[in-house]
Amino acid sequence: GTPDSDALVFFGATGDLAYKKIFPSLQAMVRRGNLNVPVIGVAGRSWTTDQLRERARDSLEHNGGIDQDAFEKLSGLLQYVAGDYNKPETYEKLRLALGDATHPLYYLAIPPSLFAQVVSGLGESGCAKNARVVIEKPFGRDLKSARELNQILASVFAESSIYRIDHYLGKEPLLNLLYFRFANSFLEPIWNRNYVESIQIVMAEDFGIQGRGRFYEETGAIRDVVENHMLQILASVCMDAPASTAADSIRDEKERILKAIGEVQPDDIIRGQFSDYRKEEGVSPDSQVETFVAVRLFINTWRWSGVPIYIRAGKKLPVKTTEVMVKFKCPPLNVFQEGRQENGNYVRFLLDPEVIVGLGARTKIPGEDMIGSTVELLAFYGGGDEMEPYERLLGDAMRGDPTLFVREDTVEEEWRIVQPILDNVTPIYEYEPNTWGPPESDQLLLPRDQWYNPLARDD
Ligand code: BG6
Repeated sequence: GTPDSDALVFFGATGDLAYKKIFPSLQAMVRRGNLNVPVIGVAGRSWTTDQLRERARDSLEHNGGIDQDAFEKLSGLLQYVAGDYNKPETYEKLRLALGDATHPLYYLAIPPSLFAQVVSGLGESGCAKNARVVIEKPFGRDLKSARELNQILASVFAESSIYRIDHYLGKEPLLNLLYFRFANSFLEPIWNRNYVESIQIVMAEDFGIQGRGRFYEETGAIRDVVENHMLQILASVCMDAPASTAADSIRDEKERILKAIGEVQPDDIIRGQFSDYRKEEGVSPDSQVETFVAVRLFINTWRWSGVPIYIRAGKKLPVKTTEVMVKFKCPPLNVFQEGRQENGNYVRFLLDPEVIVGLGARTKIPGEDMIGSTVELLAFYGGGDEMEPYERLLGDAMRGDPTLFVREDTVEEEWRIVQPILDNVTPIYEYEPNTWGPPESDQLLLPRDQWYNPLARDD
């Protein structure tokens, strides 16, 4: 196999992502004994290593807390390199800081507009030799720019050295979904068009854009979460069983599913915007950007042909949750002649905030009549030492395990699927905060009572 990385370099060390996600992951890796190599932060500001340590302390105090022992060890590993990403001197300094390391990992925690200069800086200075690179979404903003980005990366790094993060792939519940599907035998016989009536995937957030108006104006829900996180969830729900856990065995099966998804057409989408979005800072007063989207799509394979799949994502919805609802068809006969035959059979994967799998079943209500109701059998695993996605993914990249990273062909496939709805912008409908999006999605996509709207859970 490939050797472990012997240094971890993160560009954008003074930035938001480093503050919110990277320092907490680094501390967790140290605590678990998974990080004991130089950790070098690079950024433009003329900080010292001590200032970087202070920043790390501050970050940890606000994001999960300090573990004194691990923090001290981490502080000892940290170094800071200040420099302009455009200047060769910066990479010279980086080479010095790398010392004896010969297989560094570079994590580009920087805006995509800076990827090209850092990648070519690493290439020209020789720093890229035997190195791996980790990049963050967005991987472009459409199919064309995604291809351009892939070309820039490929000019310096081999595809096998490029690790693209979609942090949903590092989430425990999504890993459990794969495990649950392929470590049990009872799902497979019914996991197809003969039994499944429809699939709904909903990613609801009960907050708005949290001051990120300028970012969101360039993005919108399709680019922000549908093209990446939601299509990855869909692929995990619908993929065939991989032959093994080899990285490309799993990634090939997902790719096969994505390839079989038709391009989403304007008739299959409703875009919404919460009222008052246009008053947010950084948002244009006549913005057409969607904060909600409902999409219908189909997977054209033998297994899934004709099964409608609905994806919904939105800000300012009634709850924060990410769920998958796989609904089964009704039994062939309404034996008990219940007034309206309910299809109470389903499998529900709750992906966030808890890991729960629910199985819907009809059972008889005690009493004279043969009348029933739907109950849910719950499978969940409480406790355990859960790894946060960034800790898991960074550790995997350091060990050279690409299973949970997005391949070049997959990125392009994901953009292909949504490209028509980026090119043909459909009307935007307003919705009230704390509702399930604009009423138009009831009229145009699915009758109101057929949407699966998760309930708030008691904490
Ligand atoms: C990010 C999006 O990728 O995912 C955000 O940019 C979104 O808009 C976030 O809120 C959701 O991630 P999580 O892990 O909180 O579900």
